[in-house]
Amino acid sequence: MDRSPRARCPVIIDCDPGHDDAIAILFALASQEIDVRGITTVAGNQTIEHTTRNALTVIGLAGHDAIPVARGAVGPLRRSLRIAPDIHGDTGLDGGGDLPAPAMAPIVADAAEYLTERLEPGVVLVATGPLTNVAIALGRHARPDQIIWMGGSVEEKGDVTDAAEFNAFVDPDAAAAVFAAGVEPTMVGLDVTHQARVGPRYQERLRAAGRAGRFTARLLDFYGAVYRQRHGWDGPPVHDALAVAVAIDPALVRTEHLHVRVHTDGPERGRTEVVKDQEPNAHVAVEVDTARFLDLLCSRLESLP
Ligand code: BDR
Ligand code: CA
Repeated sequence: MDRSPRARCPVIIDCDPGHDDAIAILFALASQEIDVRGITTVAGNQTIEHTTRNALTVIGLAGHDAIPVARGAVGPLRRSLRIAPDIHGDTGLDGGGDLPAPAMAPIVADAAEYLTERLEPGVVLVATGPLTNVAIALGRHARPDQIIWMGGSVEEKGDVTDAAEFNAFVDPDAAAAVFAAGVEPTMVGLDVTHQARVGPRYQERLRAAGRAGRFTARLLDFYGAVYRQRHGWDGPPVHDALAVAVAIDPALVRTEHLHVRVHTDGPERGRTEVVKDQEPNAHVAVEVDTARFLDLLCSRLESLP
């Protein structure tokens, strides 16, 4: 695919909004390098009812109601759902303020159906939640140009258990299926997202911006409190927005071509382990240009009406 700066890249976002998913959607919609063709939702940070409603609310806020939203899996492939109200609240977007009810409804096709039809050469999938929908679509032979997934961790401790990052933990069977599908996903995990935190200077820039900027600042206030309490950080990582950034400008991260094994059971459930002596099956982000990422994110969010 032509990834020169002039080519506008068609993107589908599979997500579970979620504060950082919401910020990732706004970032994508504000970026001319990518053309958001559709959004699919999955249960993860909250139930599918909330994540779908939140996706519709966020595109409405950005004035992009016409983007199709397809509702997806109610839970993981083979186990019960674990949600994250401790981080994202009871709605999935707590602290975001009084938001208007979505003007649109989800389309008739479900997420896996939509992805199966639309993931084809030339299209990039940015996945920012558990990989349930994506695994189903790949199982039906959907083949996008590239999958950029926010999930997993290699050196960094997990954020659900010491071994596992949330998206990998929630549906490890789906993650294992995606890494085994021969599509070589780009894994944007905690190793890089924990480096890319939106500190006070950037938060104030956003608060002084338009409606989308103020909404983002409110989301960061709520979600940042959790990271302040758990890690002592003065700004939260916006994990999912970094995955969108990689679709906009792949040079923002350095990746290594490695073999990732996803553990599905036991105390290691959801661990994404690099296995040295096996054929590479993924591109793992190992370094990020944090300052350039945060500047890009803020300037794009500031540009929204
Ligand atoms: C991931 O889990 C969710 O809580 C976030 O939205 C992000 O996708 C970080 O581990
Ligand atoms: Ca997410």
